[in-house]
Amino acid sequence: MDSLKKEKEAARAGLRVRRKQAAESGAVEAAFSLRDVFMSRFFCPQGLLIASYIPQGSEIDPMPLLEVLENKGHKFCLPCTAEGNSSLVFRAYRFGDPFHLGKKGIPEPVPSSPIVYPDMMLVPLVGFDRSGHRLGQGGGYYDRTLKQHRAYKKVIAVGLAFATQEEPKLPFGENDAPLDAVVTEKEVLKFSPSCE
Ligand SMILES: Nc1ncnc2c1ncn2[C@@H]1O[C@H](COP(=O)(O)OP(=O)(O)OP(=O)(O)O)[C@@H](O)[C@H]1O
Ligand SMILES: [Mg+2]
Repeated sequence: MDSLKKEKEAARAGLRVRRKQAAESGAVEAAFSLRDVFMSRFFCPQGLLIASYIPQGSEIDPMPLLEVLENKGHKFCLPCTAEGNSSLVFRAYRFGDPFHLGKKGIPEPVPSSPIVYPDMMLVPLVGFDRSGHRLGQGGGYYDRTLKQHRAYKKVIAVGLAFATQEEPKLPFGENDAPLDAVVTEKEVLKFSPSCE
């Protein structure tokens, strides 16, 4: 195993424990707080197509935020895994639409829902730092997906996390796609001028 991979694995182990503790001590309060922090301190132009995710394990829940964004007229899409494909595609999703179970057992929009390219991607993560680096589950899925989308159109990547998922300095390599911002239950961190 190369040293970057080892460093990432070591960082993930501690961060996963912290994320689980944060979720156990107040997942619901944190999700509502994240919604309020996002809405009061993050500028969102009208009529965006926003990619979200269905939270797995102790990932912070974006649903309270999505409800407010839906009331403001934004549209949504969710990630889908495809057989033999190591990046994600996003399919349009409206509240109440049926789900389909993807190859990882995670609910996804049905395969007949159109593939779309979001303006903003709400991204789950294991860890983040104040330079916009992100540590995910270790599959490189969001890294590949963000790279592909950014080559095609402008997309703002916003990591959603518990504040305790912050590391002083995460290991990162050339394949790691940077975040434009991170929103936690406590604050908004902006790393790119496109978020001002
Ligand atoms: N664009 C890419 N091209 C080739 N390999 C890539 C690319 N992006 C990521 N990878 C590879 O994927 C593997 C996992 O990457 P990494 O450990 O950064 O995952 P992650 O960012 O934690 O996971 P995820 O994005 O799925 O949440 C690494 O070997 C990495 O080099
Ligand atoms: Mg990565």
